[in-house]
Parts: sequence; C-alpha cells; structure tokens
Amino acid sequence: MARYEIKGGTPLSGTVTISGAKNAAVAILPASLLVAGPCRIENVPDISDVRILLSILEGMGADIQRPEENVVIIDCSKVTDTRPNPELVKKMRASYYLMGALLGRCGRAHVALPGGCNFASRPIDQHIKGFEALGADVEETDDYVELEPGPHGLQGNRICLDIVSVGATINIIIAAVLLPGQTIIENAAKEPHIVDLANFLNTMGANVSGAGTDTVKIRGVESLKGGTYAIIPDQIEAGTYLAAAAATGGNVLVRNVIPKHMDCITSKLAEMGAEISNYDDALRIRAAGRLRHTTVKTHPYPGFPTDMQAQICVCMSLASGVSRLTESVYETRFFGYCSELESMGADIQINGKTAIVTGTDRLYGATVSAHDLRAGAALVIAGLAAEGTTWVKNIHYVERGYERLIGKLTALGAAIRRVED
Ligand code: EPU
Repeated sequence: MARYEIKGGTPLSGTVTISGAKNAAVAILPASLLVAGPCRIENVPDISDVRILLSILEGMGADIQRPEENVVIIDCSKVTDTRPNPELVKKMRASYYLMGALLGRCGRAHVALPGGCNFASRPIDQHIKGFEALGADVEETDDYVELEPGPHGLQGNRICLDIVSVGATINIIIAAVLLPGQTIIENAAKEPHIVDLANFLNTMGANVSGAGTDTVKIRGVESLKGGTYAIIPDQIEAGTYLAAAAATGGNVLVRNVIPKHMDCITSKLAEMGAEISNYDDALRIRAAGRLRHTTVKTHPYPGFPTDMQAQICVCMSLASGVSRLTESVYETRFFGYCSELESMGADIQINGKTAIVTGTDRLYGATVSAHDLRAGAALVIAGLAAEGTTWVKNIHYVERGYERLIGKLTALGAAIRRVED
C-alpha cells in the first residue's frame, strides 16, 4: 500500500506536458487485435490500466515491444485465444473492448465482466444490444459474457443506442470494422477518443466515417494492415492540471493539448475568474485572486465532462459564493469524494443530482481516501491547495490514469511525495 503525502499551500507554477489519452489508449490497444501485422502506437501513457491491458494481450499471444518510452509496437497476428485472463480483465473497466475486438476478429469471445472504478452502477446492456444487432448470440452470466455467431452469421446493421454511451459506441465500432456490410450507429457518443479510435482504425485500412458526430458509419473491410499511429493528448489529465493551477492560484503552461477539446473546461475556469490563454497546442492558466462561484452541469462531449466533476468541485469549494454542480451521467459519483473533501473543510450539500457547494477561503490538510480515479485526483488537488499536510490513501486508483503524477507536480513546485506504507 502506498499513499501521497502533500504539503499544501504552494501555487503551482511552470510547465506541464500532457500524456496520451488514457481512454483512447485503452480502446486502441484492444482494437489492434483486428490488425494483421505490427502497429506502432506512439504517445501511449505509462499508467496501470495500460500495463494491465498489455499483459492481457500478451497472455493471449500478442507480440509486444516497448522500444522507447510511450511507444508500443503490438503485433496480434498470432492471437487465437478468445478467452482473455479473467483475473486481469476484472482489474479494469476498458477490458470490455476485448469483447468487440474478439467478436470482430474471431467471431467469438469469452470475456469476464470488467472491474475498474466503481462509482456507479455501470451496465453494459447497450454494448450487448449492439453485438446482438451485428448477429451475435450473447450469453451473459454474473461473471462473464460469451459471444458467438448467431444462426444468420455476423454482419453490419443499424443500431440506435438508447443512451449516449462512450463504451458502447467504441465497442460496436471495433466489432463492426471487419464484418461484411455497413453498420450505422445512431445516437453515438462524440468524445475525442472516439474520433481517435476511428482515426487509428482508418490509418490501418478501415472505413469508419462520422466519428465525432452522433451518427457513425462503418463499412466493413476484409482486413487491416499494420501502421503507425500517435494517440491524442488526454483531455481529462489536462483539465486536472488546469483545475490544480486554478485551485492553488497558480500560473501554469499546459503543453501538448488540443485546445478545442478543452473548451468546455476552460470556459468554466474562465467564468470562475482564471485567465486562460490559448496557443496552437498549449494553454496557459493564470489564477490570481480568489475564484468566483459558478454553475456546472456534466454532459457527454462537447459538454462539461463527468470525469472533471470532482476536480471542479474542489475549485468551487475554494471559490467565493455558492456554486451548483449537477451530474447527469453518473448520479452517484458525488459519493466517491464529497465526504472526504468535507473532512478537509469543504461545505457540500448533496441534493439528488446536484451538489450545492458553499465556498470557503481555505481547506485544511487531512487523511483522505481515493475511492476512484477522478475522486483521487480531486483529493490531490485539494491537498495541494490546503493548509497543512494531506495524506491521500488508495492511490492505486489515481495511478490507473495519471502518468508520472508526482514528477509532473513536483516540477510545478508542489511538495508531494509517494510514501510506501
Ligand atoms: N450506460 C448504460 N448502459 C450501457 C452503457 C452505459 O446504461 O450499456 C450508462 C452508464 O451507466 C452511464 C452512461 O450510460 O450512466 C454513460 O456511460 P458510458 O458508457 O458513456 O461510460 P463508459 O464507456 O463506461 C467512459 C469512460 C469513463 C467516463 C465515461 C463517461 C472509458 C474507459 N471510460 O466510460 O471514464 O466517465 O465514459 O464519459 O473510456 C475515467 O476515465 O475516470 C472514467 C470513468
């Protein structure tokens, strides 16, 4: 067990470089199962979710090389195993993309139900609906999902998602790429990592169009060939550093971002009084003086991301006045961190889907526990802004999604270290 020790109160200052997007990497790596030949994937974040996924793929027979930092060369040509290691599959959420990838590649799959951050009930009925529409017979138990071709075989189809789901959109795209005919996904999610996955697949020879809109079309191709692809920067990691700079009254240049992906986050921080400057692939945030209260409602992209809910809540906790924070994707997400923030002096009243956050002029160091990845990131931000020392426990959640967090924060002047218990 390890924890972070944070001595708070120093405004962050300097430059931070954002890593490749976690939620793109965890889709693109399983999608490489569809490719006949080596894929060189660049800007792969070195985080525990990626390491687990690479172990799963290696265990299935993939040849994986890491010739340099943040580069993975993966060749799945020899993979025949359709039953990925259930113990590893259960350690993370995005392992559910192995279902779509194996269905598309082998026509069958036996995959344990995924684990990962458990901040809400996270059903996969829309993924299953998609696989069935593509012609799969699906058997779902409490432990695993088994997929095989139904009586009419696998082929493209039109699927209208009942709710906007990132995971279902990605899983159906992956499953459909090599199937005969055309697949059309209506009410698709539009997150940047969906576009990134489509760009990866198209680079390898797929025919996916409309990614980034609510209608994605996939025309099946016979095969994909190897190639080189670089993953986009992580929108949420960038947002987390922006929020940390805002909460500490800092001045930080955030490099390697796609500013357009950040609009929904930077516009809220600007409303709160932070000064934001946009460059081609960087953003500067200057937060002098106290932040002001604001209203935020989370939405699928291009709305304010649920994955930034906890981090903006820390900024609201330190702002003047009363802020309202409404969650519309995962209703129970507040419970992962609000009581921990309250133990540091925050004033948060949860009323159904909305948290009423009354700002205080300071938070105080405390011992707190991360209950999921983004909750953990928020507690780190709170610790950086707080007076005194904060210990954040359960940091394995944070290490799922933030590459070199300690190194990056230390370079910005933070007093944070990882302590092994
Ligand atoms: N939903 C269903 N049925 C489904 C799928 C989703 O009811 O079959 C519901 C969910 O319960 C939720 C909503 O639909 O209320 C949206 O869920 P979505 O499927 O979009 O989420 P996800 O694909 O499981 C991804 C990210 C999450 C992020 C959400 C929302 C990955 C690996 N995970 O999850 O990221 O919160 O989209 O943007 O891409 C994180 O990075 O910390 C994280 C949790």
